[in-house]
Amino acid sequence: MAYKVIIPAAGQGKRMGAGKNKLLLELNGTPVFIHTLKVFEEDTECESIILALHPQDESEFKALIEKYNIKKVASFVPGGKERQHSIHNALKEAGATGIVLVHDAARPFIDKRHIHELTDAAHRTGAAIVAVPVKDTIKMVKNEKVTSTVDRSSLWAVQTPQAFRISTLLDAYEKADQDHFLGTDDASLVERLGHPVTVVEGNYDNIKLTTPEDLFFAEAIMNKRKTSLASLDEK
Ligand code: CTP
Ligand code: MG
Repeated sequence: MAYKVIIPAAGQGKRMGAGKNKLLLELNGTPVFIHTLKVFEEDTECESIILALHPQDESEFKALIEKYNIKKVASFVPGGKERQHSIHNALKEAGATGIVLVHDAARPFIDKRHIHELTDAAHRTGAAIVAVPVKDTIKMVKNEKVTSTVDRSSLWAVQTPQAFRISTLLDAYEKADQDHFLGTDDASLVERLGHPVTVVEGNYDNIKLTTPEDLFFAEAIMNKRKTSLASLDEK
């Protein structure tokens, strides 16, 4: 299923505390955001990439895109104050029909199988997200006291990508803008329209690099993938 992808990369990585955008940190010698772009560059179903950048990062990111020979970035748009504003800017470049994916540049480990499951689901139902069942017990806490334990069997941790019919996501962003609603993901804007959102079970590897310890997890995931590729080569 052909799709376009919006990649928000215009944050500042404050929680990573690297003194620069965390997306420029290297994994295996390659910047984080290049790993993410490569997944879509190499997916034949991806038609084009719309990238939201912080103005201060623009020239450095563009130089790296050239260096790593990434060809599918069709538009660069300026990021906004919040992630939602960055995506809204990008959505204006996505056209009016077809399927659009939104995927955080800070999640370099997404795999093609899940992308394709999502785009197929979005084509059928209008909106689909990738998520994993929560492993911890989750409690509601107020003033350092537990107020309740939430039934874990219905809790899922939501990741990106999230996939939508473009017309549905445009409606959702328009409405959120009118209502000054700020959501923590794109699907929550669509849910406000009363539109159903399909869940595709994802992979626990698809972490978002947020705080410094995530770099150790990322290193471990890279090594695991290298080992499994090497063992495939031996077969
Ligand atoms: N993002 C964006 N525009 C913003 C804020 C975030 O495009 N105004 C992007 C980030 O670059 C990242 C993704 O949205 O790829 C998810 O955001 P997050 O993990 O919170 O990254 P940062 O906002 O950069 O990190 P922090 O919140 O720690 O500053
Ligand atoms: Mg942020």
